[in-house]
Amino acid sequence: MILSFLPILTLVSGGYVIVFNDTFTNLNNWIAVTEPGKNTGNNEWEYYTTRSVNVYSTGHSLVLHAQKESYQGYSYTSGKVISAKEYGPYGFFNVLAQVPKGNGLWPAIWLLPPGAKNIYGTWAACGEIDIMETICTGNSAYSTLHFGGPYPANVQYPTGGNNRYPFSIDWTKPHYFGLQWQPTFMTFWFDAQVVNGQIQGTQILTVTSDHWYSQNSSGQRYPGNAPFNVPTGFVLNVAVGGNWPCSVSGCCENVSTSASMEVFNVQVWELTQSEDQ
Ligand SMILES: *[C@@H]1O[C@H](CO)[C@@H](O)[C@H](O)[C@H]1NC(C)=O
Ligand SMILES: *[C@@H]1O[C@H](CO)[C@@H](O)[C@H](O)[C@H]1NC(C)=O
Ligand SMILES: *[C@@H]1O[C@H](CO)[C@@H](O)[C@H](O)[C@H]1NC(C)=O
Repeated sequence: MILSFLPILTLVSGGYVIVFNDTFTNLNNWIAVTEPGKNTGNNEWEYYTTRSVNVYSTGHSLVLHAQKESYQGYSYTSGKVISAKEYGPYGFFNVLAQVPKGNGLWPAIWLLPPGAKNIYGTWAACGEIDIMETICTGNSAYSTLHFGGPYPANVQYPTGGNNRYPFSIDWTKPHYFGLQWQPTFMTFWFDAQVVNGQIQGTQILTVTSDHWYSQNSSGQRYPGNAPFNVPTGFVLNVAVGGNWPCSVSGCCENVSTSASMEVFNVQVWELTQSEDQ
């Protein structure tokens, strides 16, 4: 009878399965970066060091600590890590962090190929996905894609404040900041989790793949959904000062002398198709 065919013929979506789940008992999955702020492309005020005062594990979290101190001609130091491996393309990327707020602060959770370059070229032809950025004392956060041609032919989407969360965030608590990355769209999520293979939480915004592209230095566009169809890496950092926060009135006055971003969990999930009984 017909039911006997079902075990062979029924294909269902298996949903998201976890492939990376770091709770920071150590920092083995991360590389701390040494970088003076002038090399960031943002005129940041800090010097990123790998010293344990700027980057450390508590045993259950990663701390990136910015502080005021005289160091290598800079007045602030801070922490920035990149993931030791690349992830994707595609999946659900979810990061739980307690994010600092204050004058001059610019903490960020983002994705960038190692060295800011890949098969499509240098930034931003290589693509950059800003899962969450926040600046100064405001209650907002922002999610943004950077792509297009090599700088200065780079572009971003959304633009003009449309990359801003549509609600205020309670920054006194840790939150999950998520990216659902698929070939035809990206959706940014807030305080989401995967339940039975499905993402549940608050959707911030969705960008469909017709909004992004990558082109070489002659302006020739690559086919498909480039640049967001190849693996990339995580970047976690706390910037002090820099072009964006310091463009906001008063933000770079009386800048916070000490601030930490504490990251408790980084998850990567992949969408699978599985055969079902
Ligand atoms: C991630 O690992 C932690 C610690 O082992 C565990 O408690 C948690 O359930 C894991 N998360 C997922 C989504 O598997
Ligand atoms: C850009 O791409 C076009 C088309 O593939 C190619 O002909 C051209 O040589 C490329 N230019 C550079 C600078 O890579
Ligand atoms: C910075 O501190 C000074 C002195 O306390 C104060 O007058 C000024 O309003 C502060 N500026 C901002 C943007 O907080």
